[in-house]
Amino acid sequence: MSKIVVTRRIPKQALELLKENGEVFLWDREEEPIPHEVLLEEIKEAAGVFTNVGDRIDKELFDHAPNLKVVSTMAVGYDNIDVREAAKRGIAVGHTPGILTETTADLTFALLMATARRVVEGSDYVRQGRWKSWGPMLLTGQDIFGATIGIIGMGRIGEGVARRASGFNMNILYHNRSRRREIEESLNAAYSTLEELLSKSDFVVLLAPGNTQTRHIIGKEELKLMKPSSVFINASRGTNVDERALYEALKNEEIWAAGLDVFEEEPVSAEHPLLTLPNVTVLPHIGSASIATRTKMAVTAAQNLVAGIMGKELPFQVKI
Ligand code: DGY
Repeated sequence: MSKIVVTRRIPKQALELLKENGEVFLWDREEEPIPHEVLLEEIKEAAGVFTNVGDRIDKELFDHAPNLKVVSTMAVGYDNIDVREAAKRGIAVGHTPGILTETTADLTFALLMATARRVVEGSDYVRQGRWKSWGPMLLTGQDIFGATIGIIGMGRIGEGVARRASGFNMNILYHNRSRRREIEESLNAAYSTLEELLSKSDFVVLLAPGNTQTRHIIGKEELKLMKPSSVFINASRGTNVDERALYEALKNEEIWAAGLDVFEEEPVSAEHPLLTLPNVTVLPHIGSASIATRTKMAVTAAQNLVAGIMGKELPFQVKI
């Protein structure tokens, strides 16, 4: 039987599928990542590795894995995997597109609302016993209904966020590699240059994939174009934002607030400068984290992996 390495505890439906099709080494921890040296040791005989956004799958790992046929990630994004190197070596890479779209759009919109209306700050305020009386301007935030939202990256999740924004009567701008005319019609969304989107939006929502072209797509210059009352949301990849520039912009009140589900380095340190600011709402990369969606993602990733060790085309294969 082929050896399969699973780098984290996964839902049992997915694990059972893998066990029916191979000899599984499971790093049976919920949050603690597999130590790199353990991964390098276990991968030696493996035909497949079941991975996630927290693992680095690179040339060094491939050098230790002469029998590897497939890398299957439980995610839509695969920026943690050296896909070109995998392709050179004939190793298939699988991911889980489509499955997490609505769940991630829900979380993105929740983060937008929480940041605009200071939900986390308000909750902390009550729990800490600081609430003394009703205050006319206590914890006042930004209106969402009828505001302008600018979505950078109009893929499946961007479209999901635009649909939610439409229900809030928002004026929708978007910036994307290519125009999406069907969305322009169905959601009354307007295609904009990045500069125009940044200067006109009350909410800037970043949903672009993480790659070399999008690295620091939001930096000092871009933040300067945004309104002082604007709210910035990132639910894509931390590497898409220059965090130092974001910190300066928030501290100097060049923008009003930020909601972040992702960071350049994850897990982000509790001492990170951004976490010292009250106008930053933070989450631990949980965009797709509903029970149903994470279970479907795991089962799909298991199906990709099983197809890969059998030498078949994966149901969701990354095309290089
Ligand atoms: C993804 O799928 O790429 C997310 O970031 C993790 O759910």
